[in-house]
Amino acid sequence: KQTMSDVTLQGKRVFCRVDFNVPMEDGAITDDTRIRAALPTINHLIEQGAKVILASHMGRPKGEVKEELRLTKVGEHLAKLLDKPVKKLDESIGATVEAAISEMQNGDVVLLENVRFHAGEEKNDAELAKAFASLADVYVNDAFGAAHRAHATTEGIAKLLPAVSGLLMEKELDVLGKALSNPERPFTAIIGGSKVKDKIGVINHLLDKVDNILIGGGLSYTFTKAQGHDVGNSLLEEDKIELAQSFMEKAKEKGVSFYLPVDVVVADAFSKDANTKVVDIDQIPSDWMGLDIGPKTAALYADVIKNSKLIIWNGPMGVFEMDVFANGTKGVANAMADTDGYTIIGGGDSAAAVEKFNVADKMDHISTGGGASLEFMEGKDLPGVSALNDK
Ligand code: 3PG
Repeated sequence: KQTMSDVTLQGKRVFCRVDFNVPMEDGAITDDTRIRAALPTINHLIEQGAKVILASHMGRPKGEVKEELRLTKVGEHLAKLLDKPVKKLDESIGATVEAAISEMQNGDVVLLENVRFHAGEEKNDAELAKAFASLADVYVNDAFGAAHRAHATTEGIAKLLPAVSGLLMEKELDVLGKALSNPERPFTAIIGGSKVKDKIGVINHLLDKVDNILIGGGLSYTFTKAQGHDVGNSLLEEDKIELAQSFMEKAKEKGVSFYLPVDVVVADAFSKDANTKVVDIDQIPSDWMGLDIGPKTAALYADVIKNSKLIIWNGPMGVFEMDVFANGTKGVANAMADTDGYTIIGGGDSAAAVEKFNVADKMDHISTGGGASLEFMEGKDLPGVSALNDK
């Protein structure tokens, strides 16, 4: 795909799609990772003398104006990070936006309002895409986190302007792309999270790529059941037991080592105050539930991670938000920090976990995309990437 070096930026109005969909609590940004991740591209555009028009979504306002989903706070924070004024507008199209853009000097930065305040954004409406495109001469997509969405500012607009990738987009595609197409071996995937249903595509695709798969989290109990053990009150997707079985068979055929928990932390309630104990995987009491992998499993997984050259992690090993069920996820996070292998965190909860256990700076790559990195690892084309100009 074309990059910013394939187009003239000097003096051009550049519509730069970023993913500023950051978590907020009581009107304050609680994690600015995604904003900081876009700085290299924004600074590059400023240095090149472009007129920088930033656009992002936040949350899911479903085509309505929601006061708490305005990008005002994001604009203020960005101005601090850039150490330069950022003109935040209260609309993303129309006369006031056009007027503000016509007054821009080269190197100025404008931030449009949440693009999802228009219902046409998520519908990839052609008229809306045209309205966005009319604001600019060039389109830069740096919103890897939203690249799996075919929306007006991620896909529609790219067909109407010279469309290139930003630096964050390039880096994400480069790291994830290389990992899947030409991995150093042994290559290990750690798959956790609550549901098998959400990870079917990624497990299926990675079975063709990896040497080891380590399974944990709520989804592991469906596999444990498929192995023939009782799982008590643990999360279980009855309708996915056969699928779990077929994954284990596929792993065997492909020569992939497929690891399941050998012990678990069980609790008598889904609560941080519950009674807990560690049991072997075939000893889960009928009225207890597994909420974390056990210490033997954590040690086994740490060993596999240590002996791998490349490790991708998507999804926690237990309910790590509660300290009593956090040790498994913490153990994996620490093993990722200690290994000499190249470590990739596939966004979302796993990114939150390495942050929580203070090992984020020890990871080689933390993706800014949750859904986007998952779809990439499923081998799917991302519409926001496909729509960019080819080299
Ligand atoms: C994300 O947070 O994964 C992206 O910003 C996409 O948001 P969405 O799932 O609401 O499209």
